[in-house]
Amino acid sequence: MKACIFDLDGVLVDTAKYHFIAWQRLASNLGVDFTEHDNEQLKGLSRDASLDYILIKGKITASVSEREIWKEQKNNWYLELVTNMPEDEVLPNCKELLQDLKKNNIKIGLGSASKNAKLILDRVNITHYFDTIIDGTVTSKSKPDPEVFLLGAKALSVEPSECIVFEDALNGVKAAKLGGFTTIGIGDADVLTEADLVKPSLLGLNYEELKKIFIAY
Ligand code: BG6
Ligand code: MG
Repeated sequence: MKACIFDLDGVLVDTAKYHFIAWQRLASNLGVDFTEHDNEQLKGLSRDASLDYILIKGKITASVSEREIWKEQKNNWYLELVTNMPEDEVLPNCKELLQDLKKNNIKIGLGSASKNAKLILDRVNITHYFDTIIDGTVTSKSKPDPEVFLLGAKALSVEPSECIVFEDALNGVKAAKLGGFTTIGIGDADVLTEADLVKPSLLGLNYEELKKIFIAY
């Protein structure tokens, strides 16, 4: 194990709930029913792909300018929520785990679909842990395409087979597995069925534990 690549929303920071609120608000404005199940499908998708999902569900045809307006609306609501989020709103054991990996010379990457990733990392003061940040501003393909994680491994000069990816979204787990990474799902084992191993949260994970997991899978 030479590197760990983390998804952001829902793995390191509890921002998945804010994406949900903002998408639900947009869907409701467009007259589209938006359930927890729909939200699960959207996790890990890019902003554009998420809007596609809602428009397809609502059988709505939109012009390019309408799409831009709706994406901006959703993002403004999301940013409002994030701006009010406490500065220490990282998920339990996030900073401890990053610190422990750093201490043991494991390279650390971010692999996120979000165009707001750097803003969030700065807000919760964890930017300095990352050796590379691959986010929605540099990727061209949405998860489940493995692009984001492959770019991360390349930037860290490691092979996918030398990395663990952490993901809370089924689309993200699929992306990591397609890319050839050992994949730890963070969340519900009934949802993240394709992960090598699923943990309810980062709690209990540290360098020693991850080494064992890496060898076992
Ligand atoms: C992913 C989230 O990390 O980023 C999605 O799981 C979100 O819910 C996507 O839609 C895009 O984020 P942003 O911040 O660029 O709109
Ligand atoms: Mg996520």
